[in-house]
Amino acid sequence: MPEQVQLDFLGDLRRTHTCGELRAADTGKRALLMGWVHRRRDLGGVIFIHLRDRDGVTQLVFHEDAGAELHTKAESLGSEYVIAAEGTVARRVAETVNATLPTGEVELVVEKLWILNESRTPPFPMEETVDVKEDARLKYRYVDLRRPHMQRNIMLRSKISFAVREFLYSQGFLEIETPFMTRSTPEGARDYLVPSRVQPGSFYALPQSPQIFKQLLMVSGYEKYFQIVRCFRDEDLRADRQPEFTQIDLEMSFPQQERIYEVVEPMVQRVFEAAGFEVPVPFPRLTYQQAMASYGTDKPDLRLPAFHVLDNQTWQLGLTFPPVAIHIPKTGTISSKERNELKEFGKERGLRVYDDLKKLDPKLVEQARALTGAADDDLLLIAGWPGAPQGQRPEETFYQACGQLRLFLAQKYNDRHKLLDPTNFKLLWVVDFPMFEWDEEEKRWNAAHHPFTSVHDEDLDKLTADPARCRAKSYDIVLNGTELGSGSIRIHRRDVQAKVFAALGFSDEEAKRRFGFLLEALEYGAPPHGGIALGLDRLVMILAGETSIREVIPFPKTARGTDLMCEAPASVPERQLRELGIRLISEKKDN
Ligand code: AMO
Repeated sequence: MPEQVQLDFLGDLRRTHTCGELRAADTGKRALLMGWVHRRRDLGGVIFIHLRDRDGVTQLVFHEDAGAELHTKAESLGSEYVIAAEGTVARRVAETVNATLPTGEVELVVEKLWILNESRTPPFPMEETVDVKEDARLKYRYVDLRRPHMQRNIMLRSKISFAVREFLYSQGFLEIETPFMTRSTPEGARDYLVPSRVQPGSFYALPQSPQIFKQLLMVSGYEKYFQIVRCFRDEDLRADRQPEFTQIDLEMSFPQQERIYEVVEPMVQRVFEAAGFEVPVPFPRLTYQQAMASYGTDKPDLRLPAFHVLDNQTWQLGLTFPPVAIHIPKTGTISSKERNELKEFGKERGLRVYDDLKKLDPKLVEQARALTGAADDDLLLIAGWPGAPQGQRPEETFYQACGQLRLFLAQKYNDRHKLLDPTNFKLLWVVDFPMFEWDEEEKRWNAAHHPFTSVHDEDLDKLTADPARCRAKSYDIVLNGTELGSGSIRIHRRDVQAKVFAALGFSDEEAKRRFGFLLEALEYGAPPHGGIALGLDRLVMILAGETSIREVIPFPKTARGTDLMCEAPASVPERQLRELGIRLISEKKDN
């Protein structure tokens, strides 16, 4: 760091404009700007600085005739120094106008300069064209967050939160906080635990969601609740999962599913509008069963064509279920190597893939062509399941494999059909999920959504008789193949809740121990209620055109759950553990 730099005090200096504000119409005005030195160019007697703040970039110019002292000071400026500059706005001559900057028609001719702080050479260039390793970005996140694309993402996030608040307030929702130090909430992940000092051996759990509290708020008569709320889940991390993430969480009293859609659809529409996009409402709907039988997934990407179940040729082909026609547009001719690759991909998932349709019954092929509408340069495959039925809903295992093959091929040939355009937004509701999922390891049924979800009125008697076919009053909102949100109409009667706990294999005692307070609350005038939670991080990620939620979270964790900047999680002094009544049985391994 150069020693001669004399730092100035902020004193009573006050900005007149941001760095993104000045235009040709401001020519001749006095302006005082503050920000970071983005770039410096010395051209003989003239020094140009690109000054950056969160609003934009303005060119500062230091002419030689402005005085030697000013010039020397300007010469000492390094990358990311924090400065204030005062001068007169000048119009640039036509040949020097910078069309890439909104302020590019003007520059500030500086007469006074204050150096408010210097900076070490940044750990990576601020230019976005340079690809920086994510570990370095996360270690110096405060520098990374200054880079324009991160600033855009974080500002978009703020805009979206504001749009949500504004909309929900306008619909009569109340923003109510719920505790972070609580007890386990069953959302299917592991809990993060917080030890209690005053009650050694007891632990709070950080909420996996505010589910139970928002239901209790309905029992308490608040009718319309929302919260933009942090949730904590100890689960395997992926590009769209973080251990702490944010939900747009809401709950209403007296709703049918339709009432929930009536709130969520315009809310999502407003959010898209805030990000500069239009989406039509209402969103299309598919039942879970339809989604599985047409896309092989409960989060279909509607930018791509569905697959189609064909008439029964099961017996002739030696298959267990009727075969499926999969259609990928505009692939053109594909090589025999590619054909082998796709057959191998299918085989690994239990499929038999017929790519040479000439070898099949022409009637079957004709039907496949008619249903898919496949053109000559499209890829048309027929896939079957030659193996034994698997799982509790065996046809789903087959459809899932078809869905994976469809997605694999769609991604592989995206540069030809270009259907996976990230700005083509396809939203839908997937409804009527199964109430239960079979846990093969534990040999018991788990709640597919959570155990507070209502069963379809007409499926109530299937709770114990046929759990595999018991449908829930639950719904997911899906965007371009990503699950954006999930919700349900809840159980508001104690007797029904007790039945569902029993179907899940909870003994009365266990149900009472874990959820006694909720069961009791249902006895004190609980109204019918329901709600939903949308993942804010995922929503912002997709609207920002990113493929990882880390790009829209200011201080995210790595895939191993580490904060590389403040090095969390970390060991704690022995004394602190003793106070909490904790003794470690294995030492932390350094890695
Ligand atoms: P669910 O568990 O489906 O439902 O979560 C709702 C939404 O939250 C987002 N999400 C995540 N985002 C980032 N990282 C994670 N680890 C993560 N886990 C979930 C997803 C998901 O769709 N209480 C219920 C909601 C309700 O019934 O009202 C719940 O939490 O976008």
